[in-house]
Amino acid sequence: MSDILVDKSDGIAIVTLNRPKQRNAVTYAMWCELAERFRAFDSDADIRAVLLMGAGGDFSAGADISEFDAVRGGAEESTRYEVAVDAAGDAIYEVSKPTIAILRGYCLGGAAHLAMSCDFRIAEESAVFGIPAARLSIVYGVSATRKLFSLVGVTEAKRILYSASRFAAREALANGFIDELAGDATAAALERANAMAANAPLTIRGAKFILNGCARGDLDRVEAERLISEASKSHDYAEGRKAFAEKRTPGFLGC
Ligand code: COA
Repeated sequence: MSDILVDKSDGIAIVTLNRPKQRNAVTYAMWCELAERFRAFDSDADIRAVLLMGAGGDFSAGADISEFDAVRGGAEESTRYEVAVDAAGDAIYEVSKPTIAILRGYCLGGAAHLAMSCDFRIAEESAVFGIPAARLSIVYGVSATRKLFSLVGVTEAKRILYSASRFAAREALANGFIDELAGDATAAALERANAMAANAPLTIRGAKFILNGCARGDLDRVEAERLISEASKSHDYAEGRKAFAEKRTPGFLGC
């Protein structure tokens, strides 16, 4: 059985980290595969939203520490490893479709980076968060730290990283790490994804590009203007206006 499962149905892709006996700890091979999978969703017109979750009771206990000696032993290997982690996080962050992390059980360390790379985080009461890098003498990566900072602010980010302590779902809702607490996070995520998937893909792509650029502080204005212009010449813009005039639901194609 593969360590990453991808199920596509009705325009929604569900990516599942599938090592429940290891609490879905993410191996080097999985970081690499996640980057490839999410880059592929970008050009898959049939996919309108992507959900990320863990098999069993946990999202993930983070990077697989048991293979660190083999794949993250020295400085050079550590750099290669962190490049792979950032590539996975950035592929999730940059895919031009809405992404939602479904969080239950442990969401620790590198898994928090995966969750923070999604547009939205919906958790159940069972979720437990934390970034234990200070217990391993690892500096949490730049990309992941920036995402943490933009979600919770600088003081809370420092508290989370310096203390390495765990926090519960209610605290994560209060500090901005998650944006919804639900009895059934999968059902809530599917409902949100389906509603967004019915909207114009080019609008979502443009909004995500601009907001991500603002959050990172490196917005490419030229590319943003290109996306705005492309949408204004699209089939979907004509369809949106036509549907409004005819008082019907628009059928968007993403072009
Ligand atoms: N890497 C590798 N294996 C992991 C893992 C990780 N990050 N997290 C859990 N596992 C493995 C455990 O080694 C154990 O394997 P075993 O059954 O072969 O002994 C199995 O998953 C179940 O975990 P266990 O520790 O027995 O469960 P627990 O309920 O007592 O504790 C955790 C759960 C998540 C609190 C604990 O496993 C832990 O602290 N994991 C490390 C978390 C971490 O530091 N992540 C950041 C990495 S950068």
